[in-house]
Amino acid sequence: MTRAPAIAELLAAGAAQLARSDSPRLDAELLLCHLLDRPRSHLFAWPERSVPAAIAEQFRELLTRRAAGEPVAQLTGEREFWSLSLRVSADTLIPRPETELLVELALAEIRTGGGQSALDLGTGCGAIALALASECPHLAVTASDASDAALRVAADNAARHGLQLRLLCGDWYAAVPGERFALIVSNPPYIAAGDPDLDADALAYEPRAALIAADAGLADIATISRGAAEHLLPGGLLLVEHGWKQAAAVRELFTAAGLIAVRSTTDLAGRERATQGRSQSRSQGRSQGRSQSRSQGRNQGHSQATP
Ligand SMILES: C[S@@+](CC[C@H](N)C(=O)[O-])C[C@H]1O[C@@H](n2cnc3c(N)ncnc32)[C@H](O)[C@@H]1O
Repeated sequence: MTRAPAIAELLAAGAAQLARSDSPRLDAELLLCHLLDRPRSHLFAWPERSVPAAIAEQFRELLTRRAAGEPVAQLTGEREFWSLSLRVSADTLIPRPETELLVELALAEIRTGGGQSALDLGTGCGAIALALASECPHLAVTASDASDAALRVAADNAARHGLQLRLLCGDWYAAVPGERFALIVSNPPYIAAGDPDLDADALAYEPRAALIAADAGLADIATISRGAAEHLLPGGLLLVEHGWKQAAAVRELFTAAGLIAVRSTTDLAGRERATQGRSQSRSQGRSQGRSQSRSQGRNQGHSQATP
C-alpha cells in the first residue's frame, strides 16, 4: 500500500521542487490547500497530519506543471483579488496585485462624491468591477469585455459573491453605445509585442489579447482615451492602468482627448502605474467654449491683418 505522507513532508518536498519560482513555499502551500480544500491555516495547525496517497499524487502532478511555468492561479482556477476569491480560466487574465491601485483610486473618487455609475472596460474575470461592487453596494457597475468566455467567468464570480454586475460584450465603447458614466476604469492590454519585460510564462498561459497591444502597447489606451469624453458624464473620471514607462505617453493621450486635471499615480515601488483625467464639467465646457471663440476671434483678426 502507498504511504500517506505528512503535510510538512509534502510541503518541504514541494518547495524544493519549485526552487526556481519566486515564492516556492507559498506556491506549494496554495496548491496543497486547493487539493485539500482547506485554508492555509490548516497547514500550519496540522503539519504532522497525513495526506491521503491519492491527493499526494495529484499534488506531485501539480508541482510538475508549476515547475514547468504554469501559474498557480491557472492550476487552482482561483486567485485572490481585493480579498475576493475569484475564479480564473485560460480565457482570462490572472488579476495582478498591482491592479489594486486602480481600485483604490476608483474608490477614492466614488467616496468623494464621484457619482453612482461605473464602467470597467476589459473586465476579464470581473476583478475591478467586483471589487468596486463589493465596496459600494449602491454603485451601478457595468463591466464589458470583447471576450464572451471571459464574461462567463465574470458572471460566475459575481454570482459566487452575490454581487450585481451588468455584463456586456463588445469592442471597448461599442458595448455601451450612447451611454455615459461617472467613472470609467480600465486595465487594458498595454504590453508591446516583443517587450523583453513580458513574462514568458504569462504569454504561454494567459490570453494574448488580454496582454498585448499595438503601437508600443498604447493602441488600446489611445482608443479608450479618445472615446472617454463621449462616455463620461460632465466632470466624470477616466482611470487606466499602464506600464511604468508609459505614463508620459498616456498623459499626452488623455490631454489630446480633451481630458483635464490629468495626472499619474505611483505604486508602492514609486513607479507611475495609473493615470487619470476628467471630462470637463458643463460650466468648464461653456467657459472654455467662450474663451476659445474669443481666442479664435483674436487669431482670425491677427491672420486677417497679416498679408
Ligand atoms: C489586461 S486584461 C484585464 C482584465 C481585468 N480587468 C484585470 O484587471 O484583471 C485586459 C482585458 O481587456 C479585454 N480586451 C482586449 N481587447 C478588448 C477590446 N477591443 N474590447 C474590449 N475588451 C478587450 C481582454 O479580453 C482582457 O479581459
